[in-house]
Amino acid sequence: MKRRTFILSALGSVAAAQIQENKVPEWVRNALMEDNASVTNFPQLPPGFIWGAATSAYQIEGGVHEGGRGESIWDRFCKVPGTIKGGENADVACDHFHRWKSDVALMKSLGIQSYRFSLAWPRLQPLGSGAHNQSGIDFYSRLIDELLANGIRPFPTLYHWDLPQPLQDRGGWASRETADRFADYAQLATRAYADRCPHWLIFNEPSMFVNLGHLSGIHAPGIKDPAIAMRAGHIVNLAQGKSFRAMKAVSPKLRIGSAFSMSQPYPASESEDDIHAAERFHAWENIWYLEPALRGRYPAAIAPTPEKLLDIRPGDMEHVRARFDFIGINNYSRAVIGHDPNFPIPFVAIGWRAGESGPKTDVQWEVYPRGLYEITMRIWRDYRLPIEITENGAAYNTVPASDGEIPDQQRIDFYNSYLHELAQAVADGARVHGYHAWSLLDNFEWNEGYTPRFGLVYVDYHTLSRTPKASAKWYAKLIAAQTRKKKNS
Ligand code: GCO
Repeated sequence: MKRRTFILSALGSVAAAQIQENKVPEWVRNALMEDNASVTNFPQLPPGFIWGAATSAYQIEGGVHEGGRGESIWDRFCKVPGTIKGGENADVACDHFHRWKSDVALMKSLGIQSYRFSLAWPRLQPLGSGAHNQSGIDFYSRLIDELLANGIRPFPTLYHWDLPQPLQDRGGWASRETADRFADYAQLATRAYADRCPHWLIFNEPSMFVNLGHLSGIHAPGIKDPAIAMRAGHIVNLAQGKSFRAMKAVSPKLRIGSAFSMSQPYPASESEDDIHAAERFHAWENIWYLEPALRGRYPAAIAPTPEKLLDIRPGDMEHVRARFDFIGINNYSRAVIGHDPNFPIPFVAIGWRAGESGPKTDVQWEVYPRGLYEITMRIWRDYRLPIEITENGAAYNTVPASDGEIPDQQRIDFYNSYLHELAQAVADGARVHGYHAWSLLDNFEWNEGYTPRFGLVYVDYHTLSRTPKASAKWYAKLIAAQTRKKKNS
């Protein structure tokens, strides 16, 4: 009996003899004997719904000086004193660069059906332009083959924040040249993997890397300049449109989207000012890189479009277009928004704080499952494109108990509650095709270093060993239960 079939038949009432089958890891065996109510009673998602997990290159790979990889802005940024908590960097991270094969096996053991990972641009093209690096191309090629051999969909993201440093030296996202270099890189990557990867994401959270990297400066490249942030945002939109066309030119069959960070805004009060501010938040944070792609314009809630500040040139609003095949949503919490004229970009003028009604995760983000329902429904209503939840998860820094187990019940509750809201959105008509837990592994959380633990799987940063947490076992059971019901229906 194959492992998958075994897990399926093991759920519910199981003959003890079957549980003893030796191929099943002990932790799966134990998990299967625990209470299954929350997974067996879970609403059934439609046939074909994909259950996945996500990571990103810089956060897990390490091996930054290996295999011909070039320097990225994050390598450089981490060296600046005071930028990263504890003076950490991701030179080793989770050492996925060497452990990719066992990481795929780990996913397989959990029943993960889709793996969202990112390609490190400096691994594929060390200088950000010109020659490619064959060793880097081979690295992801082996990973993709291994995923496919294990029945897991490879779901690559082109850009999860690790810009090649030589491009930053020429202006980075504030330079229009970067949009063209990015389109070249997109073509290089799709030529290498389009035969095996039908689904792609262009950007991960453009509003985050633009604003954290160029406005607040707490992320690489560490710029704090509203004028640069505005221009960079428009150039990122150009890069998105150009790369989209470059990829479709390689293969029109590719299904392409981007992963946008989205939080449902709730006005801080019933005042007109706060209600308008909440709409400006939606425009600036949630759809600033979506509305131009799909409609060839910047969001109407910020009107008139500040064309000069964005440095929009003739023809640009055609170049930014990208008729996405689906929309990726990264969601963690909601946003409580008030009008705030002190925001460094006057036409945005928002104050953003966490809500206070739900419990907080260990990074102080409010747990607010309803926000996932609301934002999914809004994006579905407004754009009518299929949706993939490309990230959702929580930081809880639960450490191993004396028996070695990692009892992260809070993460189970988090996933359970958010997934119920997602199931409700699907029941109410939203076409959601898949879901990705952030993250497969505990990993390098940018300027927060290694302190916040977002993983389903615990990583011991001394030994680099991986241990599935209670939440991983719960998620594995949920996937198995969902798949089993589907097969029987
Ligand atoms: C982001 C990224 C991830 C983060 C995750 C937790 O949203 O910032 O996509 O890289 O690690 O969201 O903060």
